[in-house]
Amino acid sequence: MGMKAGFFWLGFLLACILASTSADETLNLWPMPVSVNHGLQTHCLRKNFALKTEGSKYADGSGILKDGFSRLLDVIDVSRAADKLTNFNNFPMLLGLHVIISSSSDELQYGVDESYKLSVPGNGNPNYAQLEAQTVYGALHGLQTFSQLCHLNLETRIIEVRPTPCTIEDQPRFSYRGLLIDTSRHYLPLRTIKSVIDAMAYSKLNVLHWHIVDSQSFPLEIPSFPKLWNGAYSASERYTMVDAAEIVRYAQRRGINVLAEFDVPGHAMSWGKGYPSLWPSPNCSEPLDVSNEFTFQVINGILSDFKRVFKFRFVHLGGDEVKTDCWVTTPRVGRWLSKKGMNKSDAYKYFVLQVQKIALSHGYEVINWEETFNNFGKQLSPKTVVQNWLDNSVPEKVVAAGLRCIISNQDKWYLDHMDQSWRDFYTNEPLSNITDPTQKKLVIGGEVCMWGEYVDGSDIQQTIWPRAAAAAERLWTSYDKLAKDPEQVIGRLAHFRCLLNQRGIAAAPLLGYGRAVPTEPGSCYKQ
Ligand SMILES: *[C@@H]1O[C@H](CO)[C@@H](O)[C@H](O)[C@H]1NC(C)=O
Ligand SMILES: *[C@@H]1O[C@H](CO)[C@@H](O)[C@H](O)[C@H]1NC(C)=O
Ligand SMILES: *[C@@H]1O[C@H](CO)[C@@H](O)[C@H](O)[C@H]1NC(C)=O
Repeated sequence: MGMKAGFFWLGFLLACILASTSADETLNLWPMPVSVNHGLQTHCLRKNFALKTEGSKYADGSGILKDGFSRLLDVIDVSRAADKLTNFNNFPMLLGLHVIISSSSDELQYGVDESYKLSVPGNGNPNYAQLEAQTVYGALHGLQTFSQLCHLNLETRIIEVRPTPCTIEDQPRFSYRGLLIDTSRHYLPLRTIKSVIDAMAYSKLNVLHWHIVDSQSFPLEIPSFPKLWNGAYSASERYTMVDAAEIVRYAQRRGINVLAEFDVPGHAMSWGKGYPSLWPSPNCSEPLDVSNEFTFQVINGILSDFKRVFKFRFVHLGGDEVKTDCWVTTPRVGRWLSKKGMNKSDAYKYFVLQVQKIALSHGYEVINWEETFNNFGKQLSPKTVVQNWLDNSVPEKVVAAGLRCIISNQDKWYLDHMDQSWRDFYTNEPLSNITDPTQKKLVIGGEVCMWGEYVDGSDIQQTIWPRAAAAAERLWTSYDKLAKDPEQVIGRLAHFRCLLNQRGIAAAPLLGYGRAVPTEPGSCYKQ
């Protein structure tokens, strides 16, 4: 046996051992698909790798697929590959990707079919990889997965596709996979938000929960009540409605819905900068004045403006951490309460239910933080989704009451908690303690929360990633494929973290907890 053949057999043997002991080592995919069958070959990508769509019912009038394909070529660094494949080791060559989409619609809505099937054929040279999906949004996920099979080898300047042949069938476990950003505590520039959306798409998260306004600032333009954004930090730390529409459009073209939130009646002090009559009094400015009809007119105006831009089925109405004392200590509001025969907890319920009614009248389904359920239970609209954050025993009560639930328990899924490592994010199981199959279906998913007190454009990405990606696998990958022990996925997550860095996303090292820094010189894969 010659030297070359010897190396070949050694390499082949090693590859077989790797493949049989741990498919994860060969398959650096994140999040892990539902099913992957693969061989141990390598293909190479033609430089002018092309998109082919014959047989697709989807016409791509809006260019969502075309743009997704251009982004694919960009992230796999096609421009850095050699123009002519002179030295491609006889790898079978892929000429392009044949995408077949069966639905003609490009409407992105909650519960849209996100499944796809991706296959790279074995022999046959030249050849096309094939991607089949019900919707263009499933196809976008397939493009993300394909991008993770591509590896630019700078020795040969070939883009290698491996392992091949392979067939991947995939779909998400939960239809709501969220990430919260908070633009009230710190303003986030538009480019920062877009970059967060890019990384969400790489991780297959699909809801950007935009906690737009809070007590500290009101950055969004509301055409119906144009003085509301007087509550912004400055004249430039603001979003016009055109900006908001641009964020929604940018996200939608990547398969991501935007969930808009205003948090009432607490967390709303900034509203009164423009309209002081929303405060019970200048000295006691939160919660919003429950006794003033104007408060509900403003909320109605905001929701009618929202409806033009935020097309997601849901709107988030907050409802958490309401300290009702100002209602009692402000004489005018106190007199209103006595006239109505309400104490302060009745008034809190009145407020929350009133705002739910207004949102429902605009055609939204509603999401509220868990305190509303803890206080009013089944008196909430049956169209309510309860977002859990405080108490781990709440989700089981919510679904037992027949309401839907989103899991965001702060002991595991709060990105502003720096002491939570990616392991906490990975191992947090949304359905723990819920066994009834009907009740399980009411858990529509989960969300990791990047509260904004201590992040801004300078550090938000390294605080979010890679921890949010760990949660993304929990929410995407089928339960039986998830590692029981997070140490089993550390190599694969480290690989994904480096991939994010290569794509310009400042994802932090895995060693340590939140927002870690590299601790010593060394390869990205070892940090
Ligand atoms: C509100 O604050 C102002 C200025 O500090 C004070 O003069 C006034 O007495 C306060 N009013 C109430 C009702 O506490
Ligand atoms: C408020 O009044 C309701 C009845 O309207 C009562 O059930 C509740 O216990 C009262 N809450 C407080 C804090 O007094
Ligand atoms: C499950 O229930 C146990 C016992 O009530 C509780 O300690 C635990 O926190 C619950 N876990 C979750 C994730 O709900």
